[in-house]
Amino acid sequence: MASDLAIGAAIAQSTPPGTTVPRHVAVVMDGNGRWAKRRYMPRYFGHKHGVDTLVRAIDLFADRGVEYLTVFAFSSENWKRPSDEVSGLMGLVLVAVSKYLDKLHRDGVRVRIVGDRSSVSEKLLQAWDRAEKLTEGNRRITLAVAFNYGGRWDVLQACRQALAEGLKPEDLDEGELTRRMALGFAPDPDLFIRTGGEMRISNFLLWQAAYSELFFTDCLWPDFGAAEIDAALRAYALRDRRFGGVDADSPAAQRA
Ligand code: IPE
Ligand code: IPE
Ligand code: MG
Repeated sequence: MASDLAIGAAIAQSTPPGTTVPRHVAVVMDGNGRWAKRRYMPRYFGHKHGVDTLVRAIDLFADRGVEYLTVFAFSSENWKRPSDEVSGLMGLVLVAVSKYLDKLHRDGVRVRIVGDRSSVSEKLLQAWDRAEKLTEGNRRITLAVAFNYGGRWDVLQACRQALAEGLKPEDLDEGELTRRMALGFAPDPDLFIRTGGEMRISNFLLWQAAYSELFFTDCLWPDFGAAEIDAALRAYALRDRRFGGVDADSPAAQRA
């Protein structure tokens, strides 16, 4: 007899993508280094291909009706990497902006950068400013690039803002904090994807991912294309989001 898992996999294969499309998808773009290593190339080579993969992915997600895409590009902890890799990544941001900004704008992408701007170079800040200003009127999809971002940093900076504004302890609630978080302009992510095979959050959206559906894949980020996106969206369409409640009409309840 086929196991529940096998039946689930068969349904996942046959369900057309987009049945229930997540409004907001968050992605930990992991695996660039291993992708390069398999090709006997330096890690930078993987990061460079990772940028091209991201640009393709934005379009694919937008075509499928996703409204917000938040990607983890550089974590608060990635400063621990060798200095040549860190400076390579910083340089790559500048290259990516000059190579792709016009295309993103033409494609209707609104770009937002989220993260701690305090230890980022003036050059980078200027490039981001340009990207955000040029694309602020676009509405096809919002791309939030998490750079020098950490979930713990985000909670802390939101608390600091509230304190600095003189908010009284009794007035601080989840809504007040959410508004001050880096992704205050977006709904919480519905689907949280991590490529590269690791099953951890690595200090990404700790507050916002409270009820995100998680999807982990072994696919290394530079290989993440339409097939992987559709697999993630199919899996999402089969999930029952209960947010702590009960739903007797849910697909899972009906399968039981
Ligand atoms: C993710 O890929 C990109 C960044 C963290 C900037 P990695 O560089 O972590 O690649 P792996 O995990 O070592 O393969
Ligand atoms: C998470 O990947 C950060 C980004 C993808 C930007 P890492 O490669 O830094 O995560 P760990 O170190 O494996 O947890
Ligand atoms: Mg990694």
